[in-house]
Amino acid sequence: MNVLQLRKQLATRPELPEISGIVVRNYAGRGDISRWSDLLDAAFTAAQPPVRRMGGSEFSQQFQGSLWWSAKRMWFAETNNTLQPVGTVTLGLRQGKTRTSPAVHWLAVLPSWRRLGVARLLMAHLEQSCWDAGFRQVDLETHRGWRAAKKFYQTLGYRNTLRSSTRTKPDASKRIASG
Ligand SMILES: CC(C)(COP(=O)(O)OP(=O)(O)OC[C@H]1O[C@@H](n2cnc3c(N)ncnc32)[C@H](O)[C@@H]1OP(=O)(O)O)[C@@H](O)C(=O)NCCC(=O)NCCS
Repeated sequence: MNVLQLRKQLATRPELPEISGIVVRNYAGRGDISRWSDLLDAAFTAAQPPVRRMGGSEFSQQFQGSLWWSAKRMWFAETNNTLQPVGTVTLGLRQGKTRTSPAVHWLAVLPSWRRLGVARLLMAHLEQSCWDAGFRQVDLETHRGWRAAKKFYQTLGYRNTLRSSTRTKPDASKRIASG
């Protein structure tokens, strides 16, 4: 698996841009589990390498079993009139030996809603939440082959941390990366 490890230093408190007709909210209950998996399936449908289809059990595996997951750290962008979910992102907290590092998990925007600033808006919420919690850097991993994601993160100021690594794991191409 060809993973890019990226990091952004936060120099000031991120501001929240506005997109007409789009609102951002946190996870609001069990109904959001299928909204999350539907968003991920639609967003990653053409990803190369592919990502396996999500489902309610994947949500539980990824988040509800983890110590760090919190409704306050999962965001949904949706249309303010029909409440159609159009994007999502989650903030993970990696527990190191000496410190906790915030990390982006599963950023996804529906194909028909791309290049409108939805991911930028979601990431602003995530980064502002990091800032308010006292964190001054954000990490993520993405796949070298996911060009839109790579360009997007570069545009937002994320830069290579260590070296990009080439990892090979069984089944790795079907589940990937944090970002
Ligand atoms: C990556 C992704 C989240 C971007 O979402 P988006 O809402 O279209 O991104 P934004 O509109 O906020 O883009 C902000 C800026 O990032 C850059 N950018 C975003 N997508 C880009 C692309 N496909 N090519 C080049 N630059 C891009 C542009 O500079 C863009 O600003 P502009 O449209 O004014 O030029 C979306 O393409 C997606 O869901 N991809 C599939 C899932 C995925 O790869 N998730 C990340 C996993 S780590």
